[in-house]
Amino acid sequence: MNDSISIFAFPTRVIFGAGALGRLGDEIKRLGVRRPLLVTDPGVVAAGLAACVAAAAPNTAFILFDNVNNNPTEANVLAGIERYRSERCDGIVALGGGSPLDAAKVIRLGVTHPLPLAQYDDQANGSNRITANLPPMVAIATTSGTGSEVGRSAVILLKATDRKTVIFSPHLIPSVALDDPELTLGLPPGITAGTGLDALTHNVEAYLAKGYQPLCDAIALYGIRLAMKNLPIAVHEGGNLAARTNMMMASLMGAVAFQKGLGVTHSLAHPLSSIGGLHHGTTNGILLPHVLEFNRPVCEERMRDIAQAMGLDGTGAPAAKAATAVIGRIRQLLREVGVPDRLSALGITRDMIPAMSKKAMEDACHLLNPRPCTESDMAALYEQAL
Ligand SMILES: [Fe+2]
Repeated sequence: MNDSISIFAFPTRVIFGAGALGRLGDEIKRLGVRRPLLVTDPGVVAAGLAACVAAAAPNTAFILFDNVNNNPTEANVLAGIERYRSERCDGIVALGGGSPLDAAKVIRLGVTHPLPLAQYDDQANGSNRITANLPPMVAIATTSGTGSEVGRSAVILLKATDRKTVIFSPHLIPSVALDDPELTLGLPPGITAGTGLDALTHNVEAYLAKGYQPLCDAIALYGIRLAMKNLPIAVHEGGNLAARTNMMMASLMGAVAFQKGLGVTHSLAHPLSSIGGLHHGTTNGILLPHVLEFNRPVCEERMRDIAQAMGLDGTGAPAAKAATAVIGRIRQLLREVGVPDRLSALGITRDMIPAMSKKAMEDACHLLNPRPCTESDMAALYEQAL
């Protein structure tokens, strides 16, 4: 691919703001859906949000499917496809954080695309096998982190690849994203912190990723600004609708920005979920300061822009000083939101590092990291964060 050519596209129809869920019935009708599979998870159902969705579109015959794990699996997706077919569904409403939304995207794919799921693996050029022949899908976010509701990819644990596998296609973007921050008001502090750190990391990694995409860059810097200001408030005052609204926007902006690319933080984070069973966003937050230290020799000037977006005084300061300030501010944020700064605090042990480093190298996110990263660099980064 020619490195001087950039490709970008901005997302689908987004209905954003407190009360947006009230538009669900109209959107389902507009899409011509009568019998959607409602893809969610048991936690979302227990929080009463599936009932809120059903109440928002009382004339719709929802078929509930809540068999989605925290890190969604092939078995979850295959069960969803089976349910969609046996119930003769004609569309999908996805409700949740990244896990149900990603599972729903792959269920949507599977009902019209017959190949084994590993054939759609992005690393095997799977996107070439994905067509626009997909049923309509409404994606409703219940967390502010992944931004999957405006994303074109899904991450699923597949047996054949034995890793968190990215399935990517512009066709996978939901028909409508519905972002209602009122749905996040009841999220507990730990989930708010972890998901919010994911949103922050998307914006930071997107800004530093290789490539010329000033539109994504501008979005990423504003996303950083919103996340830094609002995450501590959302964690400590869960009922603060303004902070929740701004975090949902930071999440959406991160997902739009990271079509530019991500970086080493995400490559390191994925095995911490698939092997270590940890929460994706929380691990991103712990890793981010270490990855920024690794990256700073090649991107201190751009870290000065991040310092300014964070409200730190980057103007006129030497770039090295601004980069140090950014890293220090992120470490401070971890303390403010109650996330530990060491992976060992979450049960990760040294003997897990070789296997995780190997998997991290296989993950494509690091290919757009501003500084090339080897397997031994990956191991050193895990060691530093341990
Ligand atoms: Fe992420």
